[in-house]
Amino acid sequence: MSLVLLTGASGLIGTAVAETLTRAGYKLRLLVRATSPTEHLQHLGAERVIGDVTDRAAVAAAMENVAIVVHTAGATSLRDKDADRVWHTNVEGTRTVLEAARAAGVERAIYTSSQAAVGAAPEARPLDEDADWWVPRRVPRYIRAKRRAEEVAWEIAAQGLPLVVLNPSIVLGPGDRRGSSTLLVINFVKGRMIGATPGGAAYVDVRDVAAAHLAAIRQGAVGRRYLISSENHTLFDFYSLVAGEAGLPAPKLIPELFARAFGVINDLLIYGGLEGFPDMTSAHVAMGLCYWWANAERSRRELGIRYRPVRSSIRLTLRWAMDAGYLKPLNGKLKELLAAEATTL
Ligand SMILES: NC(=O)c1ccc[n+]([C@@H]2O[C@H](COP(=O)([O-])OP(=O)(O)OC[C@H]3O[C@@H](n4cnc5c(N)ncnc54)[C@H](OP(=O)(O)O)[C@@H]3O)[C@@H](O)[C@H]2O)c1
Repeated sequence: MSLVLLTGASGLIGTAVAETLTRAGYKLRLLVRATSPTEHLQHLGAERVIGDVTDRAAVAAAMENVAIVVHTAGATSLRDKDADRVWHTNVEGTRTVLEAARAAGVERAIYTSSQAAVGAAPEARPLDEDADWWVPRRVPRYIRAKRRAEEVAWEIAAQGLPLVVLNPSIVLGPGDRRGSSTLLVINFVKGRMIGATPGGAAYVDVRDVAAAHLAAIRQGAVGRRYLISSENHTLFDFYSLVAGEAGLPAPKLIPELFARAFGVINDLLIYGGLEGFPDMTSAHVAMGLCYWWANAERSRRELGIRYRPVRSSIRLTLRWAMDAGYLKPLNGKLKELLAAEATTL
């Protein structure tokens, strides 16, 4: 079976991809950092090479005899303090990995982009892969970094790299060891969110994202991007769903004007050297107030993905976080969830 070089294997998506590709019979080489947590990957028996995705020499060395490259490594922080690292890892890391893949003449490269690179709409309307890119003027740097990284990927494809791009929406489900997207759910349950603003987002289960990576290797059309997404919800509906599954009261709906004012005051606090609320700046508020809704028909049709319902991904997110000790079973509903057979969730 072909040798696959996988980046980001210690992450939420990369771990699920590593497990899925191993089950499908692929031989894996994992490019991880010396500091990457990889104990949970030991049972896969995959070869490991150490390197940063922005290190050209390490990445080029890792390409030896590789047939397929799957590039999931990226920095996902939405905080201002991480903006430079987020840009460098996503844009320069993608450039480094995919240029090395092209130079090595791999058969195919799969790049884990994001729905962020497809963009949002100011009104409640799902976008497909061909939508014109629009985002509010002020958004966290992550959003523009993912857009630019995908542009770089297509530039390298134009020079001969056989590329398939996947654009997942917000990823839920088991295995978020480093605090990526499932923190949205965990922080809400821990009472760290003041409520939901108007606006909407799309969600997908990490196991379906992994299945999409396998399908992209096997049957994805080179030169095509695929939105990977299950359901679209308003933020209020989504957090109401989470509240229902976690035995909590429905979230408060925060009016747009209040949210915008909160964001501006918070910016001023942070500008003035105070800690403020680093996840509620005016850029976060602007991002939250628009609609990141996806029409993922192409991935259903061409990659054959059958998406799990978001409610089940929420249950698995909560169950896994409690099993792993990131969340305490705070009430009867959560205790029930913890006691249930994981396979029935
Ligand atoms: N989670 C989502 O909702 C979502 C949605 C759409 C797209 N995506 C994209 O999917 C990708 C993976 O996201 P995730 O949620 O799985 O993130 P994650 O759990 O934070 O994992 C990120 C992975 O990238 C690795 N990495 C980061 N910087 C690196 C560097 N400089 N060199 C080598 N490896 C590096 C990390 O390794 P360490 O363990 O060493 O830090 C980790 O394995 C990202 O590109 C993200 O933009 C995520």
